[in-house]
Amino acid sequence: MVSSAHLESFDRDGYLVLEGFTDAAACDRLMARAGKIVRDFSPEEISVFLAHDGSLNKDDYFLNSGDKIRCFFEEDAFDENGALRQALDRSINKIGHAMHDLDGVFDAFSRADAVCELVEALPLKEPLALQSMYIFKPPHIGGEVTFHQDATYLYTEPSSVIGLWWALEDATIENGCLWAWPGAHRQPVRSRFIREADGSVRNDVTDDTPWPADQFVPLEVPKGTLVLLHGALPHGSAPNRSARSRHAYSLHVIDGACAYPATNWLQRSPDRPLRGFR
Ligand code: FE2
Repeated sequence: MVSSAHLESFDRDGYLVLEGFTDAAACDRLMARAGKIVRDFSPEEISVFLAHDGSLNKDDYFLNSGDKIRCFFEEDAFDENGALRQALDRSINKIGHAMHDLDGVFDAFSRADAVCELVEALPLKEPLALQSMYIFKPPHIGGEVTFHQDATYLYTEPSSVIGLWWALEDATIENGCLWAWPGAHRQPVRSRFIREADGSVRNDVTDDTPWPADQFVPLEVPKGTLVLLHGALPHGSAPNRSARSRHAYSLHVIDGACAYPATNWLQRSPDRPLRGFR
């Protein structure tokens, strides 16, 4: 259960760490399911997922993945000859972005009773599950996620996005845990990722001040921990150069009572509307 003290802490810091939120068996089921999706994936459809600022995904494979299940390679997955450096299941950056609606195992994980209760305790009138990502952060080549605010990529008017991030394995500084800037969710969102009517995308930056790296703190958490992230909280994660993977699952929730602009990159087809949690 989420207490009022938890919610006060979330309001103060912009994040909330809930250790032991999900049991190890449920984490293992999700990891096994993700492994199956990757084994069934045909790598001819290649998209290298780049999370660095200024190298945003502009290809259709990414932009049309909002209501599909697609796999994205790590930037460093391939050598200079175009061959995989590691096994396929250690080469994928992430799966996205609608497993929570299209896959039974992901649906059950995302709408477990405890998740429904948590989401209903958040300041959202009509919580909707917008986006899911399974993040592998594989050994040796797991890419950096540069500091960002989720509301840059997923926005409503007014802003409502909240991220639910699960450590499916122990997340440490060594294997690329989250880093966050406590309390900085009170600052404005500094940029917006815009999809134009013609399908092109751009980052509309209102403040390009460098993020102060010395303000960020590591969130080292054990397997089964859920981290809540306010949509305006700056956060990121370092590359994984260690021999251990750092699998995580994230689910982004918005308030259906807020407007959802057509300039969001993530657009669902009319026959696949967003769903709530019950
Ligand atoms: Fe994020």
